[in-house]
Amino acid sequence: MNVGIDLGTTNTVVSYISNEGSLELLDVNGGFLLPSCVYADNNTVMTGENALKSGEANPENFVSSAKTRMGRQEKSYVVGGMALNPTDAARLVLEAAYRRLREVFPDEKEFGAFVTVPASFESGQRAETRKALIAAGFKTGGNCVIDEPVAAAIAYSPRLGGGRVLVIDFGGGTLDISLVETDYIGSTTNPSRVKVLKSGGDRNLGGDDFDKAIAGAVYEYVRDNSPAHTDLSFPLRSQMKYARKIERLAGRAKESLSADGVYAANIYDGDLFEDGSFELDFDITYEEYTALAFELIERVKKAVLSPFGGEYAISDVKNVLLVGGMAGEPFLREFVSNVFGEDKIILPPDRMYLVAKGAAVCNSDLPVQVSNKSFTSIGALCLNEKGEDDIFYFIRAGEDIDPDKKVSRLFKTGRDFASTMVIEIAEFVSREKKTVSRLELNGLTPDFAENQTVEITFSINEDKYISVSAEEVSTGRKISCNIRL
Ligand SMILES: Nc1ncnc2c1ncn2[C@@H]1O[C@H](COP(=O)(O)OP(=O)(O)OP(=O)(O)O)[C@@H](O)[C@H]1O
Ligand SMILES: [Mg+2]
Repeated sequence: MNVGIDLGTTNTVVSYISNEGSLELLDVNGGFLLPSCVYADNNTVMTGENALKSGEANPENFVSSAKTRMGRQEKSYVVGGMALNPTDAARLVLEAAYRRLREVFPDEKEFGAFVTVPASFESGQRAETRKALIAAGFKTGGNCVIDEPVAAAIAYSPRLGGGRVLVIDFGGGTLDISLVETDYIGSTTNPSRVKVLKSGGDRNLGGDDFDKAIAGAVYEYVRDNSPAHTDLSFPLRSQMKYARKIERLAGRAKESLSADGVYAANIYDGDLFEDGSFELDFDITYEEYTALAFELIERVKKAVLSPFGGEYAISDVKNVLLVGGMAGEPFLREFVSNVFGEDKIILPPDRMYLVAKGAAVCNSDLPVQVSNKSFTSIGALCLNEKGEDDIFYFIRAGEDIDPDKKVSRLFKTGRDFASTMVIEIAEFVSREKKTVSRLELNGLTPDFAENQTVEITFSINEDKYISVSAEEVSTGRKISCNIRL
């Protein structure tokens, strides 16, 4: 089964192509978001919602937002007596996704996955992500790591109909901005090409920073008003859980403030410390929030404009596609609307899932080209034993081409005393095929269908030709053709 995974700083989303060919999202515990966090104590390791819950009581055993430290090995965590680096944390989250896929699809032999990363990830960080994916049990080809904004553009472009699109992917840990050219050729499910013209953004800016900005104001209030003047911005070990709790509640308040018509949100109302020494009641308005986050918002604005000024102009942008949890922020919508025009904004209802969907599309038979990398599948279409069309893939979309690759499969004619077998070599566009070449093996030895066997072999020769041959097994008679890659 072909799977696409958005391994996010805050949430991981898994999409897949169903056996019927439709693009689906994996249900993880009643929703599609798997929190990208890990909790470990002496005997157990947990991920997702369970980890989130256990982490509230024991924050010292909890790891979240590890993705932002990926590829920086020195940043290791020790949780519940276990030493984890960020790649281990990613692997544990991916393992949870893998287990869930196994549970939902027990009959699938393997899960081939593509995973997404921020456009700003360096090659070492990409390699670590790939390593985590493989260690979690997924099968991968060579090109299994795709940029998040590119994946989002791929998933959305059938709804766009082509043109230059500015993709703003604003998540928990990073702000990714890419100006892409989408080229749509009429398939109802997929575009033909997504080309990255320019990428930018701010790799160290995400929703987490906004949560911290709000939490900072609460810490200040607690320091000034609690009897022991507790400073949660530098918490003692025993106070860490309170600091984390406020940060988490600040994040919730931030999320509710972004909804239309919400003026203020309550962050906390009740006893803050277990000893009952301090009662905290803290509300925040959207205006107060944006004032606290003023510098962060300035960085967002700068990042949004980063692809422009040189070769590309703001007026070239046909649409601005907003994806990720932070994309619904009113301050962002207002800025984008002032710069590009309100009619250009696209805020899709599935904005939290588009990246994963795009990764699944890339990991399918659908022809998608990202920059100059080809993601087209090539295979042969023959008759199987039941006389039905059967596709035999040589190269699957997104796979690296191994120069020594050679694969064969046996086919039956499907009809008693058939004299000919027709083999179509094709590129595959979803369920449609584009015929590249045709082989006809005539004069087959008359026999019952079960005995009329033809072996089809694909290989790549030195000149980068794909060579396809069809051989009648009983006589060794053979015809072949070459296709240029
Ligand atoms: N309605 C909302 N309004 C504002 N912020 C929101 C909303 N919903 C979610 N968020 C914030 O979005 C962030 C998570 O978004 P998302 O799931 O897209 O991130 P991610 O993909 O895990 O991270 P990244 O892409 O940076 O690695 C969190 O900071 C969360 O608080
Ligand atoms: Mg994301």
